[in-house]
Amino acid sequence: MKKGYVIAIDGPAASGKSTTARMLARKLKYIYIDTGAMYRACALCALQRKIDLEDENSLEKMLQDIKIEIKYAEQGNRIYLNGDDVTARIREADITRLSSRIAVIGIVREKMVELQRKMGAQGGVIMDGRDIGTVVFPDADFKFFMTAGVKVRARRRWEEAVAKGEELNIKDVEKELIWRDQNDTNREHSPLRKADDAMEIDTTSLSVEEQVECLLNQIRERENA
Ligand code: CDP
Repeated sequence: MKKGYVIAIDGPAASGKSTTARMLARKLKYIYIDTGAMYRACALCALQRKIDLEDENSLEKMLQDIKIEIKYAEQGNRIYLNGDDVTARIREADITRLSSRIAVIGIVREKMVELQRKMGAQGGVIMDGRDIGTVVFPDADFKFFMTAGVKVRARRRWEEAVAKGEELNIKDVEKELIWRDQNDTNREHSPLRKADDAMEIDTTSLSVEEQVECLLNQIRERENA
């Protein structure tokens, strides 16, 4: 496999993007960048500083000196916000919802996209999110758009939560996913959308291994063409 590709993976919440991206990055020895974690870190920063999301001046100040780092670790990347490890905190329900609310704001997106382009500039990178193939890297070497039925996606999220010891109702998880997908799809700036040249992969009845294999096959096929 040639080195240095930019691989974009987009799709709605819990469609299998992150797991697939992480495993593929491991196989290819690529860097994995979870852009959702960056919006989550932004949301946490705004919460810590008690910033009203309507207050663009305060948000702008926050964005001027925000420091978001993704550090590789064997067990999975760690996310640092202004020097603190926030990996677990940003997965909590309040931040999940706030991340989708902050992600509609133009100045927030501009800053995140700027950081993401820097992080991916050298290639050899897999980036997952909502707008990677459409906005961040419209010229990515490979673009995938992952989808799955909402019931399956809700079950995946619910199982993750249960594994962490959280007690959640699967119906509530489903409602939250639907709310977030709608918010992400209907926003003005960089809405969740499949790039015209992205390959759609429906993961509803695929195992994680099958998902990874599916992407790998596409990459190999094109390389051998
Ligand atoms: O992992 P999950 O699919 O639940 O969400 P995530 O990828 O961590 O993203 C959290 C939120 O960040 C999403 O609901 C989007 O609102 C926002 N996001 C975005 O707007 N653009 C991206 N490239 C990545 C995430």
